[in-house]
This record gives sequence, C-alpha cells and structure tokens, in this order.
Amino acid sequence: MNIKSNAVLLYQAQDLKSWRESLSCKDARPLIGFVPTMGFLHEGHLSLIKEAKRHAQYVIVSIFVNPSQFNDASDFEHYPRNEEQDIYLASQAGADAIFLPSVEVIYPHGAQTWVNVGALGDTLCGASRPGHFQGVCTVVTALFNLVGCQVAVFGEKDYQQLAIIRRMTQDLHLPVKIIGLATFREANGLAMSSRNARLSPQARQEASGIYSALQEAQNLWRQGQTSLLYLEQRIKEALPTCATIDYLSFCEPHSLQLLERLEQAHDPSQPVLIAIACFVEKVRLIDNLILAPLTSNSQK
Ligand code: PAJ
Repeated sequence: MNIKSNAVLLYQAQDLKSWRESLSCKDARPLIGFVPTMGFLHEGHLSLIKEAKRHAQYVIVSIFVNPSQFNDASDFEHYPRNEEQDIYLASQAGADAIFLPSVEVIYPHGAQTWVNVGALGDTLCGASRPGHFQGVCTVVTALFNLVGCQVAVFGEKDYQQLAIIRRMTQDLHLPVKIIGLATFREANGLAMSSRNARLSPQARQEASGIYSALQEAQNLWRQGQTSLLYLEQRIKEALPTCATIDYLSFCEPHSLQLLERLEQAHDPSQPVLIAIACFVEKVRLIDNLILAPLTSNSQK
C-alpha cells in the first residue's frame, strides 16, 4: 500500500516543541486541538479529529497503546495495531501532526508518579478494571503537557473516561477545554471500537443487539416505564446470546453513582445513565445511553 500523509510525524518531546514553534496563528481560535487515541483508527476517531478541526487552528492526534491502562496483559498484547493506515486516515481526516511516542517517551526512566481520580473512577469500568483509570489519567496528563493543546476532544462512547477527564482537568487546573462527542456507530448500531476488529463477522453483526437492547429500554422509558428493575430485566432478555455481561448499571449521569434501589420507581424528571460492558468472543465491548428526563409532553 502506497500511503502518503500530509501530516507531520512526531516522535520525541523535542519534535513537539519544534512543531509548536513552527505554527503561525491564522485566526482567533485556540492554536492546538488534540485527539488522544490508541490507534487502529475508525470513523469514531475520525469524527473526533474533524470536530477538533472546527475548534482549533491545528490538530494533533496521538497514537499510543498505553500499557499502564491495561489490567490484562493479553488484552494489551492483542490490542489491534496498524500504524501506517492510522497515519493515512488521521491525515485524511485533517490532522496536521501525529504524535507516535514510544513507552520511554511517555514514561521517563524511573517514572513513579500516577494521577488518580476519586469516586468517579470507582464504579463501572473502574470496578471491573482495577488501575485502568489511573493509567488513563496519567497518560492523558502527560500527553496534555507534551502536546501543549488548548482543546481536546473525547468520545462519549467511553462515558466514564470523559467524565473523569473533565473532573481531572478541572481539579488540576489543566488549561485545556474538553469537548465530548456523540458515539459513532456502525450501520447496524454497534458502537465503533478498535476492538470490533477482533470479532468474527457473525459476532460483529450479533453484537449490534447490545445497542438495540439499550434502545428498547429507552423506548419503554419514553412510554413512561420508570421501574429501572423492569428495564434492567428487559435489557438482559433482549441482549444477544453471544454477549456475556460484565456489568449492566444504572447511574446518576454526573456523579456516576450507582442507582441501587432499582425496585423503586425512578423519578422521571431525573436522567439515568445506562452503562453496559460485555464480552463477545472474549472481546470486551462497552456502550451506554442516557434516559433523558421525561416531561409530560415527551410521554405522549
Ligand atoms: P481509544 O479507545 O483509541 O479512543 C480514543 C478516543 O476515541 C476516545 O476519546 C474515545 O472515547 C473515542 N472513541 C472511541 N470509539 C468511539 C466512537 N465509536 N465514537 C466516538 N468516539 C469514539 O480512549 C482511549 O483510546 C484511551 O483511553 C486514551 C484516551 C487515548 C488514553 O490512552
């Protein structure tokens, strides 16, 4: 494959510094927008790059499979990679620069500092993947500092990650504006993920049932069904047989606190986050959906 990229490829902290110094200001927007990724780019990633392009004069994308956020060595090892194609796709989507650091660039020799978030990281993926968000927060802080961006775009597909990054940015006074973008889906509804590439074609088709199950709950909610226990049951029944649940949780969308008394009718004026993680052919997939507050009009 003959791949040409218009984007500048950067590997070292020094390269980033020289790149920043070479930029000339074109308009009043923030100078640098940033999209951190672990590569194996798909349309979801590309939508973030295009969004970053709207908010900043120059966009930089990082491609770094961050070892410290994998609590499972085999998941890290099998994480799909295709650097050449990523460079092409990111460049086509409008990236001006692509940062491809080695582990040593991100974690200097002897590194021992970690960034941890509080309760937001205790539930959902934080509960089932110990240490995961510590790895994410540490790498994102390091990347923000290296890249020197003023804006960064993240996907709502990783809802908890986005909430944690927002909190961390605020708590540590990081001078970066965080923008969240809606989940990009395959035609059948399956949330796009680099991990989808590890599914067989049949499982990839069947896994679309994860989102359909969440949508079914959303329809029931819109019709006035406020028993979360009932919705939970319906989701479990509607899930495709290939999916084994890791967690299926109902949470308050800001604090991510689990709503525990599911048997009680939920106040319809209060939104609910439904978050799910499941394994399909040993591949861990996540998705989420928000039940918006119901007004008397919306129930008609
Ligand atoms: P990665 O899974 O590669 O995702 C990079 C960014 O793309 C994240 O902000 C993620 O939420 C977003 N994204 C993934 N799938 C998406 C989809 N279907 N629609 C919209 N956005 C989507 O998330 C990570 O990498 C890492 O944890 C990282 C933040 C790079 C730190 O290592």
